[in-house]
Amino acid sequence: MVAAVTRSLSDASKKSCPDANHRSPDRDCCFCLTMQRHLTTYTEDLILSHVLNASSSWRACDQNSRQAVSADDTYPGGATLSTTSKRGLLDQAGQAMKNTPIWRSVFRHGYPDTPLNQSLIMMGNVFLHLHPVKVSRQAMRITYTYCLGGISFFLFLVLTITGVFLMFYYIPADQQAYGNIQALASTVAFGEIVRNMHRWAAHLMVISVSLHMIRVFYHGAYKAPREFNWVIGTVLFLLTLLLSFSGYLLPWDQIGVLAIQVGTNMANYAPVVGDAVHRVLIGGLDQYPTQATLIRFYTLHVLFFPLVAAIMMAVHFWRIRKDGGEAGPPPPSRREVVAKLAETASHS
Ligand code: HEM
Repeated sequence: MVAAVTRSLSDASKKSCPDANHRSPDRDCCFCLTMQRHLTTYTEDLILSHVLNASSSWRACDQNSRQAVSADDTYPGGATLSTTSKRGLLDQAGQAMKNTPIWRSVFRHGYPDTPLNQSLIMMGNVFLHLHPVKVSRQAMRITYTYCLGGISFFLFLVLTITGVFLMFYYIPADQQAYGNIQALASTVAFGEIVRNMHRWAAHLMVISVSLHMIRVFYHGAYKAPREFNWVIGTVLFLLTLLLSFSGYLLPWDQIGVLAIQVGTNMANYAPVVGDAVHRVLIGGLDQYPTQATLIRFYTLHVLFFPLVAAIMMAVHFWRIRKDGGEAGPPPPSRREVVAKLAETASHS
């Protein structure tokens, strides 16, 4: 471990020491000294962030005299190690707490008052790191996205939670399915409201995903570098429709059974593979849905499609982050800026 840290430290200091002459640690350089002190205290992961911190304290030290900063050395989380200043008991206890490995493992970086610390905090927090470090101010306006993607995701979560509740009471058997759904309204506490939440969230999700897709198209946000995310998006759109379609059969009522009969028969018209696809969907040679169809649609609806959708959403969100967040409107042209300035000048 120590060897690995030493190696990474010497690599890091070679790469990061602002003084190109310091191939090996220089005793008069506060950057090199700080790095050496860190060696005994921190893990390899932390050292890398210290490289960044140390480089900022190097800039702060007196570069003419090249004096090492030894009295007050700033550590991540705002902790300071001071040998000279006098402190009260509470202060000392606070500092001691901030110097514990537990505190430092949670609060790794100082107050976010510099671009460097802001970036480090964004990258070191599980929730914040879902967003890019910097985003366009205009793209953050609610009227830009109307949060349609976020609403779609929220509805997906609602569907997942209410769907799990429905699974407690639903048996995918042609003799029982219809009765189970009816029982939700009469014998299960909150059964009808949860069922309706599931149905309405499903309808709303189809609408919100469609509107989200239209919004993305309208803003041209499918263009480079977001083409791949557009492709992932179309897969998500198909999955949303398939989830809706497969759920329609489950109540085993007349409208659902007939809708799936029509839907699966349409597969017959596809060239070459039509017949095979129909057999796979309906679960045999029948022309109408049977128990085999019900169990297939149930499995697809509660397991396969949601799982693939969840994975695709993770990729979708990851891509948004990697592509630099929301595309945002293009910056104003020079002509627009000049016109705006002229307008402001004429008003004043
Ligand atoms: C389950 C379905 C979907 C979910 C949960 C989802 C979620 C999101 C979220 C949360 C965003 C961030 C911005 C916003 O809220 O609008 C976003 C952006 C984006 N989505 Fe989706 N989305 C889905 C479907 C789609 C579809 C169907 C497409 C297109 C075919 C698509 C393409 C994109 C693109 C290209 C962006 C980046 C937009 C930009 O940079 O302005 N997404 N999505």
